[in-house]
Amino acid sequence: MTATAFFAPSRRLRGEVVAPPDKSISHRAALLGAMAAEPVRISNYLRAADTLSTLGALRAVGALVEDHGDSVVVRGSGLREASEPDGPVDVGNAGTLMRLLPGWLAAQDGRTFELDGDSSIRRRPVDRIAEPLTRMGARIEATDGRYPPFVVHGRRLRAISYEMPVASAQVKSCVLLAGLAADGTTSVVEPAPSRDHTERMLAGAGVAVERDGRTVRVTSADELDARSVAVPGDLSSAAFVIAAGVLVRGSRLLVRDVGVNWTRTGFLRIAERMGAIVVGDLEQPSAAVADREPVCDLDVRAGPLVGTVVEADEVPLAIDELPLVALLGCFAEGETVVRGAEELRVKESDRIAGVVDGLRALGASIEATPDGFAVTGAEGCGLRGGRIDARGDHRMAMLGAVAGLASRDGVEVVGIDAAAVSYPDFAADLAGLA
Ligand code: S3P
Repeated sequence: MTATAFFAPSRRLRGEVVAPPDKSISHRAALLGAMAAEPVRISNYLRAADTLSTLGALRAVGALVEDHGDSVVVRGSGLREASEPDGPVDVGNAGTLMRLLPGWLAAQDGRTFELDGDSSIRRRPVDRIAEPLTRMGARIEATDGRYPPFVVHGRRLRAISYEMPVASAQVKSCVLLAGLAADGTTSVVEPAPSRDHTERMLAGAGVAVERDGRTVRVTSADELDARSVAVPGDLSSAAFVIAAGVLVRGSRLLVRDVGVNWTRTGFLRIAERMGAIVVGDLEQPSAAVADREPVCDLDVRAGPLVGTVVEADEVPLAIDELPLVALLGCFAEGETVVRGAEELRVKESDRIAGVVDGLRALGASIEATPDGFAVTGAEGCGLRGGRIDARGDHRMAMLGAVAGLASRDGVEVVGIDAAAVSYPDFAADLAGLA
């Protein structure tokens, strides 16, 4: 069932929000638990549709998962001991699960795993992981050679050196996880830096992980030595609250416990360049360092915005927040341009088409390009309002809601329930600030 909600223009937003737990790190922590021989206790695990899909998928391949309320304990089977499931493993809507899990499964010699998900997942390419995993010795059969459902035939893997054609943390992580159980040292060369949570977490679990410029190397391990992981707040979810604070006049918000790993904070750098005031101790985060992931509180204020240009190198560091850059652009003086972001076309929906059609219907002056978009904004009230269809995409649903608060007439979001994929309390958190 698709739910519709109206987000009325808001007076200034005030108060505090605790950032919801990080989705990327929750997926990785659960996987780490399944791959480890000893139980792993995960505190602040994200309970949202995507990360619940991960717990279900890991149970299907033999892990025991206990939910203790304040923590989740995953009892795994070890690096080379995943069990064959009874039927297809359901990844739901979770692209990260779909691309990371096969890294581990490919190393399960002689065992076969089928993966499938929802209608959005069936449009998302898996050839980008099939190619390196095949070179390592696994066999992958994908629908039309590219899409789910797909089958992973596990093999004894050999290490490779893989030059990635796209800057993707999911692909990098998949190859690194496969490298853990391969013979030798696996290296991955990234065209541009992308989020490095996998590297940090593996290093914390005793794996030899080295970075040398754009190359990451991982040496095969007998087992992982991880006992606990603390998940920081998700900057990608917090970014929607931050954008609301930046856009709604007179606002002042505190967003607490946000993970500020440099490979995730591209949006904050772009927003600051546009004139947003977001204060946090990003360089030297306070005492709170959760499992090698820096965390801090962000103090957000509305301010006059100017347009900016986002180039390809910056894209992976802000990939999930680029729809918000378009929204900020509607309220910024001059032009805001995003280039080198064709990856947005293969997210939970085609986010170039969705952002451009969606914001244009609300009154924005925005054009699509093959690899991004260009927005011409106006300082002050840059959007009239209207109706936006989330197209089943959680980030598009939240974009519509924030647009509504900042608009002249408000926005009706068709499919607001999609927000539950990553941020189930989103609408309640926004309401608490209004
Ligand atoms: C993610 C990486 C990014 C991002 C996704 C989560 C991850 O995808 O868009 O939401 O957790 O590794 P790509 O690696 O495909 O860019």
